[in-house]
Amino acid sequence: MENLKWMLFSFMLCLYGSEAYKILAVFPLPSKSHGILGDNMIKHLLDAGHEVTYVTPYLKDKPHPNLHQVDVTENRKIMNENTLDIQMIMNGSLPFDNPDLLFNMMVGMTEATMVNPNVQALMRNGKFDVVIAEYMFIDLYSAFGPIFQCPLIWFSTIEPHWMILNLVDGPLNPAHSADYTHRHVAPFSFSQRVSELWDLVVALYKSSHSYNDRVEGIYQKAVVPVFKEKGLPVPDYDVVRYNGSLVLGNSNPAIGDQVPLPQNYKHIGGYHIDENVKPLPEDLQKIMDSAKHGVIYFSLGSNIKSKDLPVQAKKGILDIFRGLKQTIIWKFEEVLPNVPKNVHIVQWAPQPSILAHRNLVLFITHGGLLSLTETIHFGVPVITIPVFADQFQNAKRAESKGYGIAIDLTEELHKDLKPAIDKMLANPSYSIVAKELSKAYHHRQTKPKDDINFWVDHVVKTRGAPHLRSIALPIPLYQRYFLDLLALIFISLVTLILIVRRILCSLTKKSNTKVKKN
Ligand SMILES: *[C@@H]1O[C@H](CO)[C@@H](O)[C@H](O)[C@H]1NC(C)=O
Ligand SMILES: *[C@@H]1O[C@H](CO)[C@@H](O)[C@H](O)[C@H]1NC(C)=O
Repeated sequence: MENLKWMLFSFMLCLYGSEAYKILAVFPLPSKSHGILGDNMIKHLLDAGHEVTYVTPYLKDKPHPNLHQVDVTENRKIMNENTLDIQMIMNGSLPFDNPDLLFNMMVGMTEATMVNPNVQALMRNGKFDVVIAEYMFIDLYSAFGPIFQCPLIWFSTIEPHWMILNLVDGPLNPAHSADYTHRHVAPFSFSQRVSELWDLVVALYKSSHSYNDRVEGIYQKAVVPVFKEKGLPVPDYDVVRYNGSLVLGNSNPAIGDQVPLPQNYKHIGGYHIDENVKPLPEDLQKIMDSAKHGVIYFSLGSNIKSKDLPVQAKKGILDIFRGLKQTIIWKFEEVLPNVPKNVHIVQWAPQPSILAHRNLVLFITHGGLLSLTETIHFGVPVITIPVFADQFQNAKRAESKGYGIAIDLTEELHKDLKPAIDKMLANPSYSIVAKELSKAYHHRQTKPKDDINFWVDHVVKTRGAPHLRSIALPIPLYQRYFLDLLALIFISLVTLILIVRRILCSLTKKSNTKVKKN
């Protein structure tokens, strides 16, 4: 029956002239926000009539008839809802700014995905027109391109950063673009610039040595045997990793920084937001409608939980809320004692519907990119309490653009929260900037979901879009920055100086001997 439906559907698509592709979507990271990005990506592809195979740790009970799921729920044993412990982040036992920690976590996840029997079977039996793979700092999923003899599109979860761009063009210039875990945005001071350069040089060195050895080891173990079984030539990993056709970036110029990007980087930020805002549940609708002084919405997102905040901070925050005229909706995962009348605790929050309400005056958020994209979508100012990964930089960016205030996650964060709320409520400029950015974000020729389908189609039709590839990609960095010329000038100068010194020396010696003779 399902097959019949699919055949009829394909037949109709042929009649209408658009093509249905077999697409492999690789989103194996067990993290809720990444699940939201993957689910919405495949939704748009399925809506366009494609047949999608989805590598996911979150299986759906009633999948779309054109969706085939590849089960990597095993990955949830490595990383799950409890991995991100606020206490451990705060006391420094989970140092996310340490690149080695992140690399080890992500390379473990990638290895588990590649050796997973379901993925191994997929590599042996699957046939696809194109692969879309989420880039989580490890480039091994690039191997799906040659395994299926089709083009590969990277999906990048966060703002453009040097690591993803290094795969299709070259690293971003550290004079204006900080590593995505760092806590500052351009313009940089001299010392910030130097430290960004140093960190980049170290990271580039590691990524082409120890990190790459580990990744290539997994390639040899989990992928190379499949090439051999299929009778395919085994490509050199160094060629494979730089052979992605395109990057679909979960970014938007109104939200991020305008960094120079190659032609094959495409912004699709905002595609995860449903065009039709769902109505609020009745109780929340009533609460928001009747909030005379406006509503403040507080949520730390899907990965971090408010209930894990330090006890002192939780109590302090409640005390501050008690003193406000505004109504507060707080996404909180347990029952709180002594909740003031103006505070409404919800276990789960329909975030877009809350952000869309006209009475919302302020969003207190962890500064995750999905939340910030939604806040710009609806034009709401933010107070950010960044916790990990790109959130610090997102928070700083919201501040420098003028629609946000960032405060630190500390035991006493409530002491910083109060003045931030007062400042934001007293000063309309934050809300004005949020609305202006929202206008810029919405004013575009095509919707992000249509961009996804357009570029996927473009990559398939042009066999990997070679015409979009950056001319810079194959040029080594020393040539790009003329380090060879600098070396030549330096060596010439040193040689010249040595020669001149030698001549001067021998001249003075001669004149000395002459003097003696006389
Ligand atoms: C940090 O917090 C975690 C979780 O509460 C605890 O298990 C760990 O021992 C703490 N580490 C330090 C160094 O305080
Ligand atoms: C690189 O990508 C192109 C376009 O998708 C493809 O034709 C070529 O075979 C790929 N090369 C390798 C070594 O994977």
